[in-house]
Amino acid sequence: AENKIYRASTTAPVNIAVIKYWGKRDPHLNLPTNSSLSVTLSQSDLRTHTTASCSPTYPPAEGDTLLLNSHPQSLSTPRSLACLTSLRSLRRSLESANPSLPPLSSYPLHIISTNNFPTAAGLASSAAGFAALVRAIADLYTLPQSPEELSLIARQGSGSACRSLLGGYVAWDAGHKGDGSDSRARLVAPRSHWPEMRAMILVASAMKKDVSSTSGMQATVATSSLFRTRAEVVVPREMAAMEKAIEGRDFEGFGKIAMRESNSFHACCLDTEPPIRYLNDVSWAAMQLVQGVNEKVGRVVAAYTFDAGPNCVVYFLEGDRREVVGCLAGCLKEGLVERVEGGVELEDGLEGA
Ligand code: PMV
Repeated sequence: AENKIYRASTTAPVNIAVIKYWGKRDPHLNLPTNSSLSVTLSQSDLRTHTTASCSPTYPPAEGDTLLLNSHPQSLSTPRSLACLTSLRSLRRSLESANPSLPPLSSYPLHIISTNNFPTAAGLASSAAGFAALVRAIADLYTLPQSPEELSLIARQGSGSACRSLLGGYVAWDAGHKGDGSDSRARLVAPRSHWPEMRAMILVASAMKKDVSSTSGMQATVATSSLFRTRAEVVVPREMAAMEKAIEGRDFEGFGKIAMRESNSFHACCLDTEPPIRYLNDVSWAAMQLVQGVNEKVGRVVAAYTFDAGPNCVVYFLEGDRREVVGCLAGCLKEGLVERVEGGVELEDGLEGA
């Protein structure tokens, strides 16, 4: 066993929020001001693949290492450390309960991750990244914790990552406790509940965003007066309505709320001092195309949403694919978007490897 390398691999999908997380009530524990809700996309289009390994043969002086898309990255940031420390301590409890287990918790970890989409371009790369990191190490350590329990750990890496440990329609309940023990992911409905749902991503720019979500949120919380109303009044109302829309497979409701929510979030960004602008002209053109197809068809067949970047995610139902794709193909032809990540299906859940 002295030369052995222990290894586990996993993939984690991206999730795209329809009720946005924006604002931390505790930046150290990554506790949000408001609850949020997202849809987990298919791993075939946007995902992080991660292999975690550990071995007594890895040089202790190098410590834990991470290669992201072949580039070395630090694992000694407070967020990564929070995840690694929690996972190691769970493994240590397993080892003390069962002394015949190899002492993996004391070996250096080597993590290798690859994204099949641009990193930090507002395509929720940190969500898939930390979800995959936590899942891979939990599998390597054979931890018995449920995805919901692991979501508490992923949340400390990146808030939105807690939602990528579950498939389908996933809420992140803000929780009330100061220690964050009730701030975790909850399954609203599995993918199979509404299997016709699709998402399409219009990549307006694959460039790195200039305002990170953490610094943007902090500034919004500190300076925006719109934000207070959003967190206290708007989001609780929209969250309840969104859960109902999903429960009733009501796309009209789902779409209207998703678009209002995206607009409310970006309005708070603009209300921040100095103002934060994530949307660009291409984003606005995409919003107008979506509005146009909805008006043409006479009902909501497509719903846009934008995270901390200009890329447009459009949700639609498979039955309306022709209308939606037809209208959005127009913006590809006009050279507005770099590429379209095709009508991806949703994901049902993460499996250990
Ligand atoms: O998880 P973070 O810190 O990258 O923040 C994500 C924030 C948004 O993507 C804009 C909204 C969300 O709920 O995913």
